[in-house]
Amino acid sequence: MPHTDRNLAHAVHPDRGVINFAEAYAMRERLIVGLDLPTLKEAEKAVRELEGAVSFYKIGYQLAFAGGLDFARELASGGTKVFLDMKLLDIDNTVAKGVENIVRMGVTMLTIHSYPKAMLAAVDAARGSELCLLAVSVLTSMDEQDMIDAGYEYDPHTLVLRRSEQALHTGMGGIVCSAEEAEAVRRIVGPDMAVVTPGIRPAGSDHGDQKRVVTPAQAIRNGSSHLVVGRPIVAAPDRRAAAEAILAEMQSA
Ligand code: C5P
Repeated sequence: MPHTDRNLAHAVHPDRGVINFAEAYAMRERLIVGLDLPTLKEAEKAVRELEGAVSFYKIGYQLAFAGGLDFARELASGGTKVFLDMKLLDIDNTVAKGVENIVRMGVTMLTIHSYPKAMLAAVDAARGSELCLLAVSVLTSMDEQDMIDAGYEYDPHTLVLRRSEQALHTGMGGIVCSAEEAEAVRRIVGPDMAVVTPGIRPAGSDHGDQKRVVTPAQAIRNGSSHLVVGRPIVAAPDRRAAAEAILAEMQSA
């Protein structure tokens, strides 16, 4: 049975009550910068450099294990939006208890691997809170051969769509996928769920380990509600200029 009270609080526009990410967010709030940095000191420096240009940060494994969880609480309590990219997957009880504590941190988004039981446990644990739960569909660093090697019988596109349907029916707040798949995912999940896309690369930039990449403008055109950008901003010589250039490209779309 689909849950009816999906965690969509962050999509509600303060004046219009709109539950549509594309309309409810200014472009600046749709850029999430991945603080993939080795130390807290470096992350604090990046946030200082980006102040005023960026209002939403993602904290993942690297920073989480170097003081990043306290930093996430600090940013959130100061009114900055935080996406905690913990990609949770465990037995139902462990997922639920983890999510209950993460709700208390005051962050905006949290990732769960899109296994139906893990998603259901997370949705139950976050019920009534404002935490937007995101289902990680298929990592943007994976292509068809990686899927075969990992034992999956689906190609990335097919599995992303299947997991998007499951995320919708379990009551998740959004999907993480490549912007290559955003248009097809949008058709499945409708206008109300977040479609959060990493693997963003401005034209001509280094892809690194990412395989399913899209430019910022194309990601917006494809229906992404939020773009996650790490290295193209945090590894740039001028982080602020890199973020502003990406924002300008998003605006142009
Ligand atoms: O540096 P880059 O822009 O490739 O960073 C992308 C960020 O998004 C990384 O922190 C990575 O862990 C995260 N991510 C991803 N693919 C997913 C989910 C999260 O690249 N499917």
